Amino acid sequence: MSELSETTLDKVPVHVGIIMDGNGRWTAERGLQRLAGHRAGVENLRAIIRASVEFGIKYLTVYAFSTENWGRPRAEVRGLMRLLAEAIEKELAELNEQGVCIRHLGHMEGVPGNLVKKITDAVEATKDNDRLILNVAFNYGGRDEMVRAIQSMIRDGLQPKEITEERISQYLFTKDIPDPDLVIRTSGEFRTSNFLMWQAAYAEWYITPVYWPSFGKEELRKALLNYANRERRFGKTSDQVKGS
Ligand code: IPE
Ligand code: IPE
Ligand code: MG
Repeated sequence: MSELSETTLDKVPVHVGIIMDGNGRWTAERGLQRLAGHRAGVENLRAIIRASVEFGIKYLTVYAFSTENWGRPRAEVRGLMRLLAEAIEKELAELNEQGVCIRHLGHMEGVPGNLVKKITDAVEATKDNDRLILNVAFNYGGRDEMVRAIQSMIRDGLQPKEITEERISQYLFTKDIPDPDLVIRTSGEFRTSNFLMWQAAYAEWYITPVYWPSFGKEELRKALLNYANRERRFGKTSDQVKGS
């Protein structure tokens, strides 16, 4: 049973997306190098995965590296790639033990070969787990995803009338994954930065000023409680939603 049900929380979102932002500012406040912030961010991700399992979240999608992040200084990009490879190496056994299934959202072009192999192996090694589906949006961009989907649909010879919302969803990296119910962005930025642009069309957003390395289990609990108190109307009126 979810740890949250004890506290008024009976509406745990099925799918939570997180834009893990603010690692750089977290280090700036401490006089550290940016990479130290990314390292702290990875540590925090481990805690948040564990908390997500405890809270009964079924799907967790984390934004780890965007198609735009290639534009950062080379050393930072390289450092981020190395960190991800290290994290997979260090954490895979424990993730497996917790019943976490790892999926990758994004494409592999430009990604160093050793990291491609680590990601592919991690996906393969955890594919039968189903306690938490952890989607790692790495080398991911919502627009890039859409372009690839359109190219594939044309390649498959689809006719205009066959192009429906459901069909498009099946051509995205998130095929067979329900849309996110809640998207969290840390570090106080009010923008989507190309994250799940199709899938998050009706997500609830939660923006917190807390930087990602400091966004621990209690912060996640706050976000879930906030979500539980919202009314999702999907275009309808409040009366309709309440069934009166
Ligand atoms: C998020 O933290 C991590 C990645 C984008 C990989 P940032 O590195 O963007 O941190 P800020 O925004 O500079 O504080
Ligand atoms: C979004 O953060 C990408 C990730 C968290 C991986 P950024 O820090 O790259 O976003 P912008 O560029 O400030 O919008
Ligand atoms: Mg940022």
